[in-house]
Parts: sequence; structure tokens; C-alpha cells
Amino acid sequence: MSNPLVTVIEKCVAALQSADPQGSIETILHDAAAGPAVADTVAGYAKFSSLDDLAIHRSESLTLLAGSLPPGFSAAPHNHNLWSVVSVCRGQEDNRFFRRNGDGLEQIGEASVVGPGTLANDADVIHAIRNPLETPLLVLHAYGGDLFATPRSNWDPVTHKEVPYDWKQVRSD
Ligand SMILES: [Fe+2]
Repeated sequence: MSNPLVTVIEKCVAALQSADPQGSIETILHDAAAGPAVADTVAGYAKFSSLDDLAIHRSESLTLLAGSLPPGFSAAPHNHNLWSVVSVCRGQEDNRFFRRNGDGLEQIGEASVVGPGTLANDADVIHAIRNPLETPLLVLHAYGGDLFATPRSNWDPVTHKEVPYDWKQVRSD
């Protein structure tokens, strides 16, 4: 059987030519998240030691990640400096949103994305995510550029100061 994510990737790449790439990709990923074949495939992306391991597509204009994030997984506050779309196939992704305040951050909101569901974020968003459930969180994430080549930040968990992005500081579970 062919990997259903191949079709999802093709649709997302084609959507980059649309008038609203982020909106078009949100629609594509919402439809994809609702399909059991896509969710079952994403469930297989459970072994990863770095974010790069989850990349199913990477170009200058689009990065797509697919991942099964275990119970207890969390990512400390970070930004992307790219527009993004969160798509949850199964499970729940809790987001907290922040803005810079002095040398640190202050929380300005929160949102839970329950599968199948999506959330679009602007390029200047700072967020932290968490899997609050006892089941894996199956996600597809899209970013409007090369996430791995884009300078970005996280906030030191101890000092709360903005530092160059370091996955080892961001992930905990
Ligand atoms: Fe993020």
C-alpha cells in the first residue's frame, strides 16, 4: 500500500501556488487528519531524537513534519519565524501563547486542538505545546519555509531569557 502522506505532501506543495497558501494548507491538513489511513501512518512516526527526524518534506518554501508525540511530551516556549499550521489527527495538543516581556515572556492565551482539528499561527507566534492525554498525540505540522534553516529562538527554561533555538532544551517528556 502506498504511503497516504505522499498525496498530502503533493497537495501542500501545489497549494503554495494558491492565493492563500497557509489557508489552503490548513484545509488540506484538516481533511488529511480526519482520514484513518493518514492517522495510522503518522502513528508510525514515533521514534525520533531530533525534530529533523520528523520531517516528511523540506524545501525553501515549506516544511512538513509528521509525528507521534508520547503522553507527557512537551515543548517549552519557542517561535518559528514562519507561518505555521498545527493539524492533530488523534489526541489533543495544548498550546500556550506568549509575548516578550522585558527579558522574558508573559502568557497571553491558550488553545487546545483536538483531533481531527487544526490551528493556524502567524509567523510571530511564540508558543509552548503539550500532550495532556495518556494516548499518543498524532500531528502534522506545516511551516511556510525551511524550518531548519530559519533562525529562531526558545526561552531558557531556567533564566527565561531568549536563546538560539536548541531542541534539547525545548523537548521534555
Ligand atoms: Fe512550535
